[in-house]
Amino acid sequence: MAKIKDVFVCSDCGSQVSQWQGQCPHCQSWNTLSLRSIIKSDARTASVITPHATVLLSEVVVSEMTRFSSGMTEFDRVLGGGFVPQSVVLLWGDPGIGKSTLLLQAVANLGKNHSVLYVSGEESAEQISARALRIMRTDSPIVLLPETRLESILEVALQIKPQLMVVDSIQTVVTDALDSAAGSVSQVRECAARLTRLAKEGGPTIILVGHVTKEGQLAGPRVLEHMVDTVLYFEGETHSSYRMIRAIKNRFGAVNELALFAMTETGLKGVSNPSALFLSHYDQPVSGSCITATLEGTRPLLVEIQALLDDNRFGSPRRLSIGLDQNRLALLLAVLHRHGGVACQDQDVFVNAVSGMRISEPASDLAV
Ligand code: TYD
Ligand code: MG
Repeated sequence: MAKIKDVFVCSDCGSQVSQWQGQCPHCQSWNTLSLRSIIKSDARTASVITPHATVLLSEVVVSEMTRFSSGMTEFDRVLGGGFVPQSVVLLWGDPGIGKSTLLLQAVANLGKNHSVLYVSGEESAEQISARALRIMRTDSPIVLLPETRLESILEVALQIKPQLMVVDSIQTVVTDALDSAAGSVSQVRECAARLTRLAKEGGPTIILVGHVTKEGQLAGPRVLEHMVDTVLYFEGETHSSYRMIRAIKNRFGAVNELALFAMTETGLKGVSNPSALFLSHYDQPVSGSCITATLEGTRPLLVEIQALLDDNRFGSPRRLSIGLDQNRLALLLAVLHRHGGVACQDQDVFVNAVSGMRISEPASDLAV
């Protein structure tokens, strides 16, 4: 029998407490608890898992991990060498950045010799098909499922047993077990947990697409990032056609690995020599420009750092950096003044890393 219960739910982490408090006891956020009526149903606990027996670590039989390629060199690189069977990947980024395009391309490549299921809660089968026709000629058998109900998705997945499954996006999926709206913290958490369980019980490799909030954070509960094996962030400048995918978390590969793409009329194309992009080309040496070598993941890149100093005439001087850490710039200026005898107190200082790259490597200090 389902029971209705009043609880206070945190909008940040999704945890539930029975009494109102100013601060969430789990994630320490302030003023995020609000009253909700939830249905305590048995469906939440009823799962497809059978309980596992305990096992000694030394007796675990490790099977050879055979990754499979997405057919896109750059995408494979950021995944750590391809998809790991039964793993869960979360790909998130701004709307219109190219998440669906990338996954459709990967699925079309994979569909040639793997069974794939593309679940879309955002676009109809006609829209996906029209896009697929535009970006590639493919006759690979990709199974499309325009569906948002979790129970139906799981049923189809168990029926056709795909090797790879895309869920675009996790915010559109809803389960009957909860009565909250699609995209709410509890829905996202529950649906992601059930899908993760499916993958871990000998199911497909699952790619979940995630939305961003107004503040540019991953929409939904923070626990989503803990649940999955790999978190990829898709980023890019709106005015440029270049796109980057960064691995933020990867249980099967290096973090901070970087993939570079260019958005073209026929979908995303991998960029194999990004250094050429990050350098502006001059016939003669110019002042205020310096090229530095930085390491992004396992990949060395040449990036141009530009700097400009200008007389300050209005109060406190400005220190502005694009693509580099502002605090680090302030620190460098202080070191230069104290130990190098370079005084910039009356100067505005601007520093820029060309092509929208975000550089965190301390080696870039020398170039600055
Ligand atoms: P999309 O993959 O729908 O973004 P997301 O799923 O992340 O919201 O990407 C849509 C954008 O990409 C749209 O602005 C048009 C552009 N685009 C191209 O420039 N070339 C193409 O071949 C495709 C398919 C999309
Ligand atoms: Mg999309």
